[in-house]
This record gives sequence, C-alpha cells and structure tokens, in this order.
Amino acid sequence: MDYFNYKDNELYAEDIKVTDLVERYGSPLYVYSKATLVRHLKAFEDALVGKKHLVCYAVKANSSLSILNIIAKSGCGFDVVSKGELMRVIAAGGSADKAIFSGVGKREDEIEFALTHKILCLDIESESEMYKVEEVAARLGVVAPVALRVNPNVDAKTHPSISTGLKKNKFGIAFEEAQRLYEYIKNSPNLEARGIACHIGSQMTSGGPIIEATDKLIALYHDLAAQGIVVKHIDIGGGLGVTYNDETPPSPNEYMAAVIQRLKDIDVEIICEPGRAMVANAGILVTKVLYLKSNSERNFCIVDGSMSDLIRPALYNSWMNIIPAFKRPVSDALEGSDQHGNKLYDVVGPICESDDYLGKERHLNVREGDILVVRGAGAYGSTMSSNYNSRPLCAEILVEGARAFVIRERQQEEDMWANERIITDYEEEFEE
Ligand code: LLP
Repeated sequence: MDYFNYKDNELYAEDIKVTDLVERYGSPLYVYSKATLVRHLKAFEDALVGKKHLVCYAVKANSSLSILNIIAKSGCGFDVVSKGELMRVIAAGGSADKAIFSGVGKREDEIEFALTHKILCLDIESESEMYKVEEVAARLGVVAPVALRVNPNVDAKTHPSISTGLKKNKFGIAFEEAQRLYEYIKNSPNLEARGIACHIGSQMTSGGPIIEATDKLIALYHDLAAQGIVVKHIDIGGGLGVTYNDETPPSPNEYMAAVIQRLKDIDVEIICEPGRAMVANAGILVTKVLYLKSNSERNFCIVDGSMSDLIRPALYNSWMNIIPAFKRPVSDALEGSDQHGNKLYDVVGPICESDDYLGKERHLNVREGDILVVRGAGAYGSTMSSNYNSRPLCAEILVEGARAFVIRERQQEEDMWANERIITDYEEEFEE
C-alpha cells in the first residue's frame, strides 16, 4: 500500500493534493506521510515479535523532531551518532536509556553526556575509545554499558560509499581483537560488556550479508561465553535497503526471519538499527520547474530544489524516481515529445556545480511552473541538506490523512548568518 498515489492524474500525499501543499507552503518542500512511517514501524515490530528485541531507529536518516516523536511514542529506541542526535531524541520525547550511541569518533563531552543521561549502550569502535569511555566513567563514578562494534569483514554488496563492514573501512574493531578487549572490559570496574554490535553497510538488497555477519557475531558470542562473558544483546545494525528503482529488497519480516532463526536458542536480545527502511519511502521532495532549456545535445529541466536540499544523486550518483505532481495528458505535450508525450530531461538545480542534479535522462511531460516530486527522499534527504550557495533549508510538512502540519518552518535568509559576526575594529576585538 502506497500513501503517495495518483487520483485523476493528481498526486496525493495521503489525502492531500501535492500541488495544494505547494500552494500553501511554497517550494521546495519535504513532505512526509505519517501513515507510511507508522506502517514501517509496525513492520519491524511484527518481524521481531516473539523474540526479545529493541528496534533502534537510526536518527541520521531523518532527525526531524516530529518524526522522532512518533517513533518514540511507538516504543522504539534510537541509534545515535552524536551528542546532537541524542539531544534531539530527548527533545523529541525519547530517552537515552533506549538509545545506542555508535560512531567512530566520540568526543569526551559526548561520552560524558551519554553516561550522565544513562545511555543504554555505547558502541565502542577502537581500543583507544574503550580507554576513554573507561576514564570518563571512572571520573563520573559509574559503570558504562558498552558493546564492541566489531568489523566482521563481510561484503554488504552495496555502493562503496555506504559499505562499512570491510577491513578497508574505518568502522569497527577488527574481529580478531574483540576477545582480548572484552577480557579487558570484564576486568574493568567501570565497564560492563552489554552487547556485541556490527553494522556492515546500507541499502542492502539481499539478506545474505546480514546472515553472514550474524553468524560471525554468534560465534563471538559463544567464544565470549566460554570466557565467562555473557552479553545481553546482539546488535546487527541497520542497512536494509528500499526500492528506489527496480531493487527488490526483502521485507523486514523476510530480512529478520533468518536472523531470528539463528538466534533462537540463545537467550539474547536482538537489537537492529534501521534508518532508511523506516523513512525513505515515507518522504518526498517537492520542487517546482523554473525553466526548461535545450541545446543541441540535451534538454534541461531547471527546478528550484537542488543538491543543497537533496545531495544523494550528486554525491553517490543515486537514482531517485522523479514524477510529476500532475500528469499532463499526451495531447498536452510540448513539440518534439515522444509518443507518450515525454521529452528526455536532465533535472537540475540552481546551484553552481555541474553535479547539481536530481535526476538525469528522465522521460517527462512538463512545462515551466509544473511541480515535480522526488520519491524515496525521506531518508538522508533533509538530514544531509546544507546552506550551500546560501540557500535556506526548506520547509518540512507532515501529512496525516487530510491534515497537513508544518514540522519545520522554511528557514529565513537572515537565519543563515544569525550566529556570524562582522569584526569592525580588529585591534579592540582581538583577545590574546
Ligand atoms: N547503524 C549505524 C551504525 C550506521 O552507521 C547506519 C548508517 C545505520 C545504522 C542505518 O543504516 P540504514 O538502515 O539507514 O541503511 N547517506 C547514505 C547512507 C549512509 C548510512 C550511514 N550509516 C545514503 O544517503 O545512502
């Protein structure tokens, strides 16, 4: 069931016309469907039913407070990678005792913040970080619950930029080192071995790699048990892919079934950290066609959304589906269109970079002023946006049935430099 559907050639976000949203809130615009998010939350919960588990949503995929609030209310936990993300979770009504703190480079103040807020688990990514966590915990007089994020050296078979579980990647602790470090943790009065963790990559479209990684974690679990270290959880990370084009990723249920099967005889809690699969298809980026122009080689559809709003195509060469908010009939096509009424366009933004595009070689029947929609933009869209070219961050709207709510106001130009200063007297302002 899709909550972004055409009725009479008009695209609806749940029960609201996308073109109406643009009229009300302007463009470009992120629009999220609450029903889609709720459906995905339920799919992960259902997939794990019957086994002790905690779904920890990966905040980096979409950290909007309203989205986090819906997720917190559903009972899910969170995977955070910075103090900022943890503060967002708390501000949105979630709590640190259901949050896992991952990331290769946690600062001391971030570790302290997490421990004072009683984080569920800190995922340690290097030996040095382990000593740092121990030192901070000792200073605070607490025992830090930790997991080692091991690098299982499994190929996630995904885009190289989002593959994380290979030895050449900066992530995690070498598998061979794990037992020695867990022994250290066992003997430390300020560290507790809470779990074992891994995350091997993102946008995985088959279940094979995660099963391979789970098997390695289970072997480690048994080795540790033989050492007298019995951890409470196994965290398989995130990474389940979504359909942007013609990918056919497993459902959360299919993805988890093999993992649960392997863990069924072990009294351990499963933690998973889905980001993309939870929010990607719950969101769209809506953008207006400003100009159409052609040269002897190409047709360009210049829109008001750009790589500053959605960088995935420019950064990873990702293919994201672009559809019109209103489907024009073939009879209304521009001269030179094919029999379906389409022309071949590169959909490009206004930023001064050749890579500023949302899609290349797209068959579209559009006119200037039309509204286009980039699908699958709910994950790694807004969170990766920037102010490049001094373009304000766009507004974000949450739709529930026939109601729309502004969950982030469009940024004003002045907001972009609100915390900057102009030095007028260099002598007076200089502090030794
Ligand atoms: N857990 C950890 C430790 C991670 O590093 C990530 C993602 C996740 C969970 C969530 O993975 P997911 O379920 O979303 O695949 N910006 C890229 C994706 C980067 C993913 C980074 N880590 C993109 O737009 O494709």
